[in-house]
Amino acid sequence: MNKKIAIAIDGPAAAGKSTVAKIVAAKLSYIYIDTGAMYRAITLKALEKLVDVHDESALEELLKSTDIQLIQKADGQRVYLDEHDVTMDIRSKEVTNNVSYVSQHPKVRGEMVARQQKLAERRGVVMDGRDIGTKVIPDAEVKIFLVASVKERAKRRHEENLSKGFSSDLEELKKEIEKRDLIDSKREASPLVKAEDAIEIDTTSLTIEEVADCILREVNKFNQ
Ligand code: CDP
Ligand code: CDP
Repeated sequence: MNKKIAIAIDGPAAAGKSTVAKIVAAKLSYIYIDTGAMYRAITLKALEKLVDVHDESALEELLKSTDIQLIQKADGQRVYLDEHDVTMDIRSKEVTNNVSYVSQHPKVRGEMVARQQKLAERRGVVMDGRDIGTKVIPDAEVKIFLVASVKERAKRRHEENLSKGFSSDLEELKKEIEKRDLIDSKREASPLVKAEDAIEIDTTSLTIEEVADCILREVNKFNQ
């Protein structure tokens, strides 16, 4: 039997990380961990409790008393915040527009990274985010950095919104993605940056299946 490994998938918003991570995890019977969902969950709680997203100490305190669980169900991964299912709520525009402020604080990241490292301890995981290959699992056996043009990423999110019956504005999405990319890349604490030993895949003109196959080939190489 192949040895269970850790697969780290990083990259900017809407590069296709979670879609391909889920496929790769299913093919390998691995656990998929969406770290962005964890940052979104604490952001949702901060907004609900009227905690200032720029107040690092208040957010740190809030996070310490917050339970976030990612639970695999037949219809996909569900996100629980203090035992409430918030899978849909964490995708709201308000959460999306504030999550990069919450996640730029070193104390918030320190606590999140510790929780994520515990989840990855036993290997057999595909974890996606911004700092997985650089900070959370720097010794991951396979590291992938997915990129795509901003135009393509905004188009993907737009089509995804429309397919779910949500209203969507392509230009607004492009601005939101660019703004989030900028904050995520420029922050001091573990910014969005490709790990030196990560394989970069430009997915702009690739299908989801092509990207997943490319990652699975890397995993196979490791197992040979
Ligand atoms: O799915 P999308 O690319 O829109 O975002 P996400 O993966 O849900 O992540 C939401 C936000 O959480 C990002 O824009 C980052 O600010 C933050 N994040 C992070 O800082 N580190 C991670 N490992 C994952 C997400
Ligand atoms: O997790 P991340 O924010 O990086 O992106 P995602 O949520 O996995 O992908 C955003 C959208 O792009 C989804 O609707 C995917 O189906 C779509 N997608 C695509 O059209 N082509 C790809 N090669 C990858 C993703």
